Amino acid sequence: MPVIAHNGLYILTTQRTAYALGVNRDGLLTHAGWGPRLPFPDDYPPPAAPGAWGPFNNPAHHTPEEYPAWEDMKFIEPCLKVSHADGVRDLAPRFRSATMADDTLRLHLVDAVYDIHLTLHYRAVADHDLIERRASIHNAGRHPLRLERMFSARWHPPVGDRARLSYLHGRWFDEMHLTREPLHPGTKVLESRRLTSGHHHHPWFAVDAGDADEDRGEVWYGLLDWSGNWKLTAEVTDFFATYISIGLNDWDFAWELAPGATFETPPALAGYTPDGFGGASRALHDFVRQQVLPHPDLVHKVYYNSWEATGFDVTHEAQLALARQAAALGAEMFMIDDGWYRGRFAQSSGLGDWEPDPQKFPGGLAAFIAGVNALGMDFGLWFEPEMVNPDSQLYREHPDWVLHFPTRERRLGRDALHLNLAREDVQAYLIEAVDRVLATHNIRYVNWDMNRNVSEPGWPQAPGEPRELWVRYVYGLYHVWHTLRARHPQVIWQSCSGGGGRIDLGMLRLSDMIWISDNSGAAHRLGIQQGYSQMFPATTMQTWVTDQQTEVPFDFRFHAAMCGLLGVGANITQWSAAEMEQARHWISVYKSIRHLVQQGDLYRLTPAGMPGFTALAYLSKDRQEGVLFAFCTYIGQHEPSLTVRLRGLLPEVRYTVEGFAGVRSGTAWMSAPLQFGLYGGLGIFGSTVRRIVAVIPEEGNHV
Ligand code: DGJ
Repeated sequence: MPVIAHNGLYILTTQRTAYALGVNRDGLLTHAGWGPRLPFPDDYPPPAAPGAWGPFNNPAHHTPEEYPAWEDMKFIEPCLKVSHADGVRDLAPRFRSATMADDTLRLHLVDAVYDIHLTLHYRAVADHDLIERRASIHNAGRHPLRLERMFSARWHPPVGDRARLSYLHGRWFDEMHLTREPLHPGTKVLESRRLTSGHHHHPWFAVDAGDADEDRGEVWYGLLDWSGNWKLTAEVTDFFATYISIGLNDWDFAWELAPGATFETPPALAGYTPDGFGGASRALHDFVRQQVLPHPDLVHKVYYNSWEATGFDVTHEAQLALARQAAALGAEMFMIDDGWYRGRFAQSSGLGDWEPDPQKFPGGLAAFIAGVNALGMDFGLWFEPEMVNPDSQLYREHPDWVLHFPTRERRLGRDALHLNLAREDVQAYLIEAVDRVLATHNIRYVNWDMNRNVSEPGWPQAPGEPRELWVRYVYGLYHVWHTLRARHPQVIWQSCSGGGGRIDLGMLRLSDMIWISDNSGAAHRLGIQQGYSQMFPATTMQTWVTDQQTEVPFDFRFHAAMCGLLGVGANITQWSAAEMEQARHWISVYKSIRHLVQQGDLYRLTPAGMPGFTALAYLSKDRQEGVLFAFCTYIGQHEPSLTVRLRGLLPEVRYTVEGFAGVRSGTAWMSAPLQFGLYGGLGIFGSTVRRIVAVIPEEGNHV
């Protein structure tokens, strides 16, 4: 049973972890522990009820509440902030009852004066050692209630005064740098106000006590399941408690909760592992593969995408020439990116008019697709449903469908305006327009792109509070995408937002994979891929070989892309016969290892303190095989000794590792570093792919 009620505590248990909370002596719902699962219910301490410490530190301020609302003398970051119609601006929810159903615990809290009901939902995701939390609020009173902040959860990693926060930051073309920094008293804020989750930070965190590494140590980590504005506050209080709160961004947010109405937050998930940052990533990867992805068992094809080869200059002949080359390489899915639809001859026109352009496809797009299919490949198409160019039929007919403030200029981003997906008429148009193309063509793959940040986020005809836009837009997006998915279950979806502008769990409920960066230069990309791997598995990570960073050797470019969902996005009509041959070789190698990359367990093996050296391995779940990648981009003082220690092998099983002599036990391989540097043959811009294979044990060969 994943939820136990014992001695005033509720204990949620997963396979290896437990999360405890209870009502303290003062009636506050209080956190009581999060870490390894303990043998007996009595092992969990009762919820704390701190006393006052002088007149300026009263109990409410330093009680580790599960979900503090702003009230009383609390000056920590609250999860909930409201205003009532009578001008009162706080809420004092107190525990009333608990219900348990299956794996979910619901705690019901009520304000003593106002008929406002707050419910905290806790679900133990037992197989993946995660706790999923949400909050909902119901207005049973007679007056509207204004929500000004409503987070999904506050988490309490028990790291005392040694908290260290890991997070990802970056920018367009340079996403997902991993940063670890100590937290000191005060609040660090990570957020997006861009309407998408953003290139700049991602709604993911890990906290440790400064002593965890890739393989060992306690780590508490989590994600927000939302693809819009979000906020994370990492707070160390004046009494050295560490709180991580996460949820919808309260910046420019307001929600008018009418009498009888309920508002529910998106879910937040978090977990605990004793197995370091690698253990945290692997737990998230399994969860995403098994419980989030729309097609969990899909073996992804090798893609070809024509964007970087032809840009907007899409013609039947040129695309067919690319398709013939792609088929010769062994690609299995041919995709036309931007540039196929009516009026799309440049960035400034056509967006919004989702019909094949008859000038580009005089014989029709369906005939072109039949040609691709005849070459043995499936076909995919690009859309950017949320945008419209002023130079389009759609905008001429519906200028009021875009986000705007009536008195302000409508600023263009990449020559486009932003459709207001909070509007039901816009949702209906998009469903109809995309559906028409999918229903009348043999399309197996769609790239859903999104290429600007928001400005003038106005909704002049909003039925209620216009600042609900931030949330209603995202639900509108979910609705359009879910409807299209349901109507076209044969389609595989990719999400892209100028590369990594929308890398979040909300997206992975809609799309099978993510284009993680417009930067496909292989050496740059290695770091971006490592950042991405903190959160999400390689089976969601699109990686192409393109014509970017061609100073990097051809093999290296393929090896880097083989660490994810391999695709090619180069102008392959210009590739030499030798390059075509090399590409064919690596694509066929990829096909023989893709089950490991896509479904295996990732071990990041890069040794600490060796800049410019990256190593990783994917091991099959049964540990009978694996594949190791190593890359060198910089020769520093460590060059002669670039070494890798394998991880994750079964200690007593004997393996061969391609390129290294011997049949040795997992323990032996994991204890002796493998040489890759000067002595192992890996120089600057050197890279290698090595197979790891378990061998049948021979009798009598044990020590
Ligand atoms: C931005 C994407 O990131 C690119 O890959 C490409 O699809 C362009 N949009 C097309 O306009």
